[in-house]
Amino acid sequence: MVEPLGRSSREERELWMKEASYNLFNLSSDKVFVDLLTDSGTGAMSDRQWSALMMGDESYAGAASYFKMKQAISEILGFDYFLPTHQGRAAENVLFSVLIKEGDMIPGNAHFDTTKGHIEFRKAMAVDCTIDEALEPARYHPFKGNIDPGKLEDFLRLNPVERIPFIIITLTCNTSGGQPVSMQNIREVKSIADKYGIPLIFDAARFAENAYFIREREDGYADRPIRQIVREMFSYADAMTMSSKKDAIVNMGGFIAMRSHELFRHASVFNIMFEGYITYGGMSGRDMNALAQGLYEGTEYDYLDTRIRQVAYLGERLKHFGIQCQEPFGGHAIFVDARHFLPHVPREEYVAQTLAVELYIEGGVRGVEIGTLLADRDPVTRQNRYPALEFLRLAIPRRVYTNNHMEYTAIALANVFERREQISKGFRIVREAPIMRHFTVELERA
Ligand SMILES: Cc1ncc(COP(=O)(O)O)c(C=O)c1O
Repeated sequence: MVEPLGRSSREERELWMKEASYNLFNLSSDKVFVDLLTDSGTGAMSDRQWSALMMGDESYAGAASYFKMKQAISEILGFDYFLPTHQGRAAENVLFSVLIKEGDMIPGNAHFDTTKGHIEFRKAMAVDCTIDEALEPARYHPFKGNIDPGKLEDFLRLNPVERIPFIIITLTCNTSGGQPVSMQNIREVKSIADKYGIPLIFDAARFAENAYFIREREDGYADRPIRQIVREMFSYADAMTMSSKKDAIVNMGGFIAMRSHELFRHASVFNIMFEGYITYGGMSGRDMNALAQGLYEGTEYDYLDTRIRQVAYLGERLKHFGIQCQEPFGGHAIFVDARHFLPHVPREEYVAQTLAVELYIEGGVRGVEIGTLLADRDPVTRQNRYPALEFLRLAIPRRVYTNNHMEYTAIALANVFERREQISKGFRIVREAPIMRHFTVELERA
């Protein structure tokens, strides 16, 4: 599929940004030259996915497409029970409706914003147990998505087990920079979870990219096929949610999978209420077909190698210009250290958002803030929560852009870097939502 890209002038982009209240989500896509807002649902489907789409069975109950998806999930991930949902957050909504009650605490590795949102919406708390190395962008650690087993055990020892319905591992960990979790860490977390009798759940949006990093970086996995690594990863999980818009390379879709029939039965009730009947759950048959095919394609080594090398290519180009990023580079995106880039912009004025706006105005490249705006306010004090790191995320859609687009992006950001000393002012909030504010926030120049 080929799409036109619209070119524009700096003056036009300055005006459009102002009209969009300095929120990049408010820009219409025709005003964007290279769109690195997200890798979610923005991938290009393959010839096989498009042809699978034509074979969709749109029966309300028991469609052939449902069974195709069931077979792919069983073969690739090893789960017997699953429920389709329209996307990842819907899977969270359904599963958490069964598992989370007010006052609960859910430890994990830097929970994704919708995951945290669904936890906090139920008046429960997400507890981040990521290793400290993840907070030092320039420091090398092969698995910065890892959970610190010491932090996790301390937390479990000090809190009543009945208030901890599950532990969640996000792999790769989006919030800490698309960083992988090692097999050894998954195993360790599973044994701690077993010791306390707590289920282990995966947020598996980018599970295949995680398996690729295990193959590349962990002892004993270099010669293993990706699907074998995937099967081992999931053998330690009791249940999982997946936004299939990432590693299943579809534009819309998701699911929950689990081992327990009991959990399946409970979750089915909420699935029917929120998503649709249990054999389609918010997806059309054709989309389930494309998703099933995408799970096979997304776990092919050659595809993963090409994709992850493209992400690293952008990272290397930025590094060449002296721009500090989270290293090693993540699977789906480059995370630029915004405080290192713009040291004169106060944190109270949203430094990563300031960088995102500057990059758009410079070259029409749309990234996204992973910083204070995304972190939301503390649910109790209503004060801004300042995360340890302020990132500008440049997420690369799958099978869409060439390395020329990466080169263009790197040069646009390098141009901003050259004039960084003159950028000392950020933004003030004009209007914000009480939760997940970054999607709709309105800003003005400080
Ligand atoms: C790690 C992770 N979990 C969950 C989600 C939510 O998925 P969706 O956007 O399909 O609702 C995302 C989306 O970006 C994600 O990155």
